[in-house]
Amino acid sequence: MSTTDGGPWWRSAVIYQVYPRSFADANGDGIGDIDGIRAHLGHLRDLGIDAIWMSPWYPSPMADAGYDVADFRDIDPVFGTLAGAEALVEEAHAVGIRMIVDIVPNHISSEHPWFKAALAAPSAKERDYFWFRPGRGANGDEMPTDWRGEFGGTTWTRTPDGLWYLHLFTPEQPDLNWDHPDVRAEFESILRFWFDRGVDGIRIDSAALLFKDKDLPEVRDGAPHPFHDLDEVHDVYRAWRRVADSYDGDRALIGEVWMPDVERFANYLRPDELHAAFNFDLLGCAWDPALMRASIDRTLDAHAAVGAPATWVLSNHDVTRHVTRYGREDTTFSFDNNLDGTPVDLELGTRRARAAALLSLSLPGATYLYQGDELGLWENENIPPSSFQDPMWARRGHSRDGCRVPLPWSGDEPPFGFSTASPWLPQPPEWKGLTVEAQTGDPNSMLSLYRSAIALRREEPGLHRAEMAWLDLHPQVLAYCRGANFACVVNMSGASIPLPDHETSLLASGPLDGDRLPPDTAVWLRLS
Ligand code: GLC
Ligand code: CA
Repeated sequence: MSTTDGGPWWRSAVIYQVYPRSFADANGDGIGDIDGIRAHLGHLRDLGIDAIWMSPWYPSPMADAGYDVADFRDIDPVFGTLAGAEALVEEAHAVGIRMIVDIVPNHISSEHPWFKAALAAPSAKERDYFWFRPGRGANGDEMPTDWRGEFGGTTWTRTPDGLWYLHLFTPEQPDLNWDHPDVRAEFESILRFWFDRGVDGIRIDSAALLFKDKDLPEVRDGAPHPFHDLDEVHDVYRAWRRVADSYDGDRALIGEVWMPDVERFANYLRPDELHAAFNFDLLGCAWDPALMRASIDRTLDAHAAVGAPATWVLSNHDVTRHVTRYGREDTTFSFDNNLDGTPVDLELGTRRARAAALLSLSLPGATYLYQGDELGLWENENIPPSSFQDPMWARRGHSRDGCRVPLPWSGDEPPFGFSTASPWLPQPPEWKGLTVEAQTGDPNSMLSLYRSAIALRREEPGLHRAEMAWLDLHPQVLAYCRGANFACVVNMSGASIPLPDHETSLLASGPLDGDRLPPDTAVWLRLS
């Protein structure tokens, strides 16, 4: 297992998100599973990644695709068994790949024994593990607050005894009361459960939402938010850090922290809290050199202030795939700006996605790939709504299923070697040119680009340095140096530009035009 900057692995790793439902299906039920992942570990080894982040694989009624966990210490039968998960951790380690599991502390499934006990008896001690509150109005039949849920929609559901319980997501995901010591103790024990099984890191879902203002004020401009980023959350992560630090081998805590304020964001990364957090600033940013440069600077400054490594993410299981985003006229991403169905130029999006791969793999810090990024998959916008499974669809009119479509491995038609059955979501027939089989050995494929870039990232001394320095080549061009003689140049202008003086071109995202770099193309150079 190698690191590139001499520091612990999580500072500079290439981390690959496996969405188990859609990676590979070994038992022929149309849903990906652990044995499917084990069977395809060679793909990840050959890609050259350092670690896998596994989206939730625990027993779950799947009201939110497994982000509604009924038991954090087991595996859902649809994915396999705990023994299979342990075998996967071992097999991944054997090929130099670390393992990160996903823990969801904000809420649990309504089928979790705690919530069932809480519902069964008002006197149960488990009641206090949640947010049960009387309603407003004469008969208590109005919700305790008008808080809007994270998926849109309301945040309270009434129980037969007349009280309401809080859920920032779906009613099947009741929020936990983090003021309760039993809740804290339970999650520390869950961390130990997985660290004891050799996992190298924990991805923390919705990490900034855990605490709520007990007075339940409404959300108001200018007032502190009642459930985003309350200060108490830092105490929890300090305790988690002590747990992680009590293990050998650089165990890491990585937070999912969606937060516009970069300073508040950086607070999660103070030396005694989380090791890293997903930086969504660049993900939401338009394909625009000035905006991207500003985003990169903001990110690096905020992280430098707390000594934490930056992270770079282009896609994940929640957002529109970046091939599609970069092929639209509006290339930004935000859950509040629904661009579904707006025209997409996939050729342009793919060209930019190739350039973005070289960008995100040469910035200082850790880079996250979402499964299928390495194949250049686009959002499947042709899924019939009747097949949607994402609970966001009913609440926001946008489904995240389009980025969760099963991977194409081989063959000329769906299910493309993913399964022997019909996959749980339909794959576009046009993916036949994008299978792992079709792209392997094609030097111009996205897969070859990712493999080469990840291999070079290990070898290039400049990419192991913590710092970067901008090169001012052209106002519409992002260019920077890492170390004395490595440079990345991304041409976002509409025309080709001359390359700066260099000794060798190490890797380009598309064909160069002699000594010129065509539009929407990136290149890695060894400078003279
Ligand atoms: C995170 C997950 C998302 C999930 C939500 C609720 O944002 O990434 O998929 O729906 O939390 O757990
Ligand atoms: Ca299966």
